[in-house]
Amino acid sequence: MRTQVGIIGAGPAGLLLSHLLHRRGIESIVIENRSRGYIEARVRAGVMEHWVAELVDEIGMGERMRREGLVHEGIEISFSGGRRRIDLKALTGGKSIMVYGQQEFVKDFVAARLAAGTPIRFEAGSVSVHDLGGGSPAIRFTDSDGALRQIECDFIAGCDGFHGICRPAIPDLAIFERSYPFAWLGILAEAAPSSDELIYSSHDNGFALHSMRSPELTRLYLQVAPDEDIAEWPDDRIWEELQTRLTQDGGWRLNEGKVLQKGITPMRSFVCETMRHGRLFLAGDAAHIVPPTGAKGMNLAAADVLVLSRALVAYYESGETALLDAYPAACLGRIWKAQRFSWWMTSMLHVFPDQDEFLRRIQRAEIDFVTGHEAGARALAENYVGLPFDA
Ligand code: APR
Ligand code: PHB
Repeated sequence: MRTQVGIIGAGPAGLLLSHLLHRRGIESIVIENRSRGYIEARVRAGVMEHWVAELVDEIGMGERMRREGLVHEGIEISFSGGRRRIDLKALTGGKSIMVYGQQEFVKDFVAARLAAGTPIRFEAGSVSVHDLGGGSPAIRFTDSDGALRQIECDFIAGCDGFHGICRPAIPDLAIFERSYPFAWLGILAEAAPSSDELIYSSHDNGFALHSMRSPELTRLYLQVAPDEDIAEWPDDRIWEELQTRLTQDGGWRLNEGKVLQKGITPMRSFVCETMRHGRLFLAGDAAHIVPPTGAKGMNLAAADVLVLSRALVAYYESGETALLDAYPAACLGRIWKAQRFSWWMTSMLHVFPDQDEFLRRIQRAEIDFVTGHEAGARALAENYVGLPFDA
């Protein structure tokens, strides 16, 4: 087999890249080690920055997102028994966020890629990359029928997530990372959202988040210990703790319902430099991880592949390699700003295990500043809806 761009991973990064390239007449094949059913059911992030929702529209993929996604013009921050709203729209000159599940995005893009004839090889085994430094790199894998396959490409896009095989194929990487002394326990519940907007709550018991997927489905998170055993969290205990951390003075309570899905997500910040080795380019979670507090994971993946697709289009149109050479530098400024924002939101809103009362009071003062002064609120809002791209 031969293609122009071999894409490893059918997550948001790989699928969006394949779609952007297809629109500009560039062929790709997507290699995914899981089944279609698995990637379409995996519940993960849910917030798209303003420009991501606009891009999805522009490339003809916005129909279901506009029908089923929820546009939010503000978020709420709860602390010290009260709640304050950050008016994203007013603070950012009209921008908002789109709440649309990552797996809905994946479903829409898988369907569109297959309809357009782009091969997606699901359940590929033993995926490996070869000859990255030469003119024609290759991807090898075993197909779902057990046959050994090789795809020769002009370029390989490593969109295979944090645990993929592409990043380890790059020698001499510089890694910058932080792990946090807590994790998030997330549930998807058959309950109407209890508020129209997301609520980020800083509580003495730990952080909690109220989010949603539809008018019938709530997505909720609790800060827990990093080594927490999910078996210690029967549904009753989860609801009780969510009520404690999210309930306000004045009687507002969270709607409860059947828990459809639950899981624990570790919290990590991670960046690798560089994002390129010869003809292999990393994008999305393969190159960086943010803690979920800033809702940036999927947005950074989209930003990387937009930059990469433009560089590949320039190469195929004119043989120009300058944009390909500039790819890591063009992405890393934005990546580090999103890292800073995610680390800052995480630090401001969570209870740290060894934290004393001094730090707790500093956190409260910071939340008070951010939610009570326009300058603080605007800085949060501009980061949250998505910063402009670097020139
Ligand atoms: N070979 C082929 N595919 C692989 C391999 C491999 N060796 N390893 C992992 N994959 C696949 C995974 O099964 C997954 O479908 O690569 C895909 C990577 O997708 P994501 O982990 O979703 O990463 P990315 O596309 O960068 O998405 C970025 O969106 O999914 C959300 O919040 C999530 O932050 C994440 C963001
Ligand atoms: C979610 O809806 O899953 C979600 C929302 C906001 C976050 C993280 C996750 O910061």
